Amino acid sequence: MEKFQYVFIDSGIGGIPYLNYLLKLAPKATALYIADSIHFPYGEKKQCEVISFTLKIVERILENVRPEIIILACNTMTVSALKTLRNTFDFPFVGTVPAIKPANLVTKNNRIGLISTERTAKDIYTQRLIDKFLNNSTVFVRGESDLVEKIENGLVYETEERKIEEIRPIISFFEKEKCDTLILGCTHFLHLRDSFIKVGKSCAIPISIVDSLEGVINHTLTLSPCKTTSKKVTLTTTGKEKQKYKDYANRYGFDFIEDIQK
Ligand code: DGL
Repeated sequence: MEKFQYVFIDSGIGGIPYLNYLLKLAPKATALYIADSIHFPYGEKKQCEVISFTLKIVERILENVRPEIIILACNTMTVSALKTLRNTFDFPFVGTVPAIKPANLVTKNNRIGLISTERTAKDIYTQRLIDKFLNNSTVFVRGESDLVEKIENGLVYETEERKIEEIRPIISFFEKEKCDTLILGCTHFLHLRDSFIKVGKSCAIPISIVDSLEGVINHTLTLSPCKTTSKKVTLTTTGKEKQKYKDYANRYGFDFIEDIQK
């Protein structure tokens, strides 16, 4: 197996905007992106299931790829399993959690929305972040698994109008609740970040969109500054639909391999 400094994991294509942002800051990076699509959607699974398959995939990565750092480019995996990972492996992991702390600096009226998977929405980790950083705010948390599903299954190939059609009813809910800030707490939603920003701006009380993209990647590059001088980015999937993920790899200009092996 070739060497990669960075490994990104998500249940599907959610982590790609994070990888792309890393490549923007470190254009010569080497990265392997793993779409663990055999377990998609993580958001509909029990915490113990997410922990169990996260431990297995991390074991395989450490054995076969030996990166310098693993980025959990997935809120669901992070809130469910990061603690167990850190207790199990003496290895640097970067997690992705809903940008709850930054949202506190953005809101002016202390009415904040959070959209994520169902699993992240009800996880105690998320609740603790809300209690810690948003105790002066009213927070509306909603699981939006349909949108996750649509993004994974091709919404990224659609027109801007189609994307906005999907986003508008979601934003309308928070507009009615007079929120001025919305947190994108699932990495899949970052594929529609610009569309969320556009629709958010058009609301009666404009809604600012907050996410963890820059925070996660800046933290990654602080822990593991890019050491390579020639870019190499490869995508792989654990699932059976190899062609679908090969097409995604092509779309983003990445190489594709069918599996991770030694
Ligand atoms: N992209 C993931 C997240 O940030 C999870 C999507 C899913 O598999 O349900 O939570």
